[in-house]
Amino acid sequence: MSAADALSARCPAPDPVRLAADLAALERFTRPDRPYTRRAFSDEDRAARAWLADRMTAAGLAVAVDAAGNQIGRRAGTRSAPPLMVGSHLDTVEAGGRFDGIAGVLAGVEVARCLAGVPLAHPLEIVNFTCEEPSDFGLSTIGSRALAGKLDAATAARLTDRGGRTLADAIDSVGGDGRGLDRARRAPGAVARYLELHIEQAVSLDRAGVPLGVVTAIAAPSRYRASVRGRQDHAGGTPMGDRRDALAAAAEIVLAVERLAREAGRGMVGTVGTLDVHPNMVNIVPGAVDLLVDFRGIEPGAIAATLAAFEAEASAIGARRGVAIALAPLLREQPLAIDGAMVGLLEDAAAARGVAWRRVTSGASHDANHVARLCPIGLLFVPCRDGRSHCPEEWAEVGHLAAAAGVLLEALLRLDRVA
Ligand code: GLV
Ligand code: MN
Ligand code: MN
Repeated sequence: MSAADALSARCPAPDPVRLAADLAALERFTRPDRPYTRRAFSDEDRAARAWLADRMTAAGLAVAVDAAGNQIGRRAGTRSAPPLMVGSHLDTVEAGGRFDGIAGVLAGVEVARCLAGVPLAHPLEIVNFTCEEPSDFGLSTIGSRALAGKLDAATAARLTDRGGRTLADAIDSVGGDGRGLDRARRAPGAVARYLELHIEQAVSLDRAGVPLGVVTAIAAPSRYRASVRGRQDHAGGTPMGDRRDALAAAAEIVLAVERLAREAGRGMVGTVGTLDVHPNMVNIVPGAVDLLVDFRGIEPGAIAATLAAFEAEASAIGARRGVAIALAPLLREQPLAIDGAMVGLLEDAAAARGVAWRRVTSGASHDANHVARLCPIGLLFVPCRDGRSHCPEEWAEVGHLAAAAGVLLEALLRLDRVA
């Protein structure tokens, strides 16, 4: 047996009972009236972070919070080297699920428990990234973005929520330092490798009955705020031919997003997830509507063509209906092709642990997208029931999570030798 195999043999396998207990404990940090809601920067988020700090400490990790509010459990390595990092997020969408992000953080803590007493050359960091999900500040993946140097203190001081609170203040509220945000930045190469375990949030693994996905590419979101300005009028007195109905125009935009994504194929998806109607009364022709539009894709050519077609279509709808439609681009991320060596390493780790896998792509975005600016990343998926996610019904089998955590553990042991 090689020295490396001997180390692997000294590690107990991730324990599904411990993982299930942690999942059950964490789901209690939810808004009681809207399970399972734990929005970033909320009381529930702060309570979950305090709970996680205890679990990290019990796993032998020294817990720190960086300037972005990222919660980092760290253990030292036997040599001076950049850390191996495992991360994901504990914040949820509104009425979200119990596994999105959570699975990856808890798997990381479980892996740290398995590694207790097993020396690694590299330091190990398990990270709960701040606010992966969309926030009231118009930005998502806040913690990993800051880590990668893509969000600075000036921007955090400028962005506000509807109540006027700055993102910098929100970051302070979870123990970060919004005004010193630039200190959260790490240089390329300052992390040796990054691994994330996540639920698939799509149906391919569940449908195929395969317990593990090795991700080869991650789609990127492109978002717009569409502001439609028509004319507010009386719903009874205004003849149909005289209207400049902002909501009717917005409805055309919603259908155009759906149609353009469908026609593009090649993995493109398009969604309008929010619609603010003004003044929003039954007897008033709506004068103004604001929509948030989200397109995602894996192929840069398909993304560019879809966005161009959407912009042209929005302006044609505005001209035809006599309403003003302004598109403010909010986000234009690049899709990520995952390093082939990392894909291969994860496949070898799965084979070594006897876990069947298939290659998949990710339609959802992840903290890994940003960390990829610092080092090669790897992403593992576990099936989620019927592919459902971002809903309270979201469900993953703890047996699948434990098996995937075993692959994560094996991958860390292998990376410790090669990174
Ligand atoms: C994160 O959940 C995303 O929007 O992909
Ligand atoms: Mn999510
Ligand atoms: Mn997630």
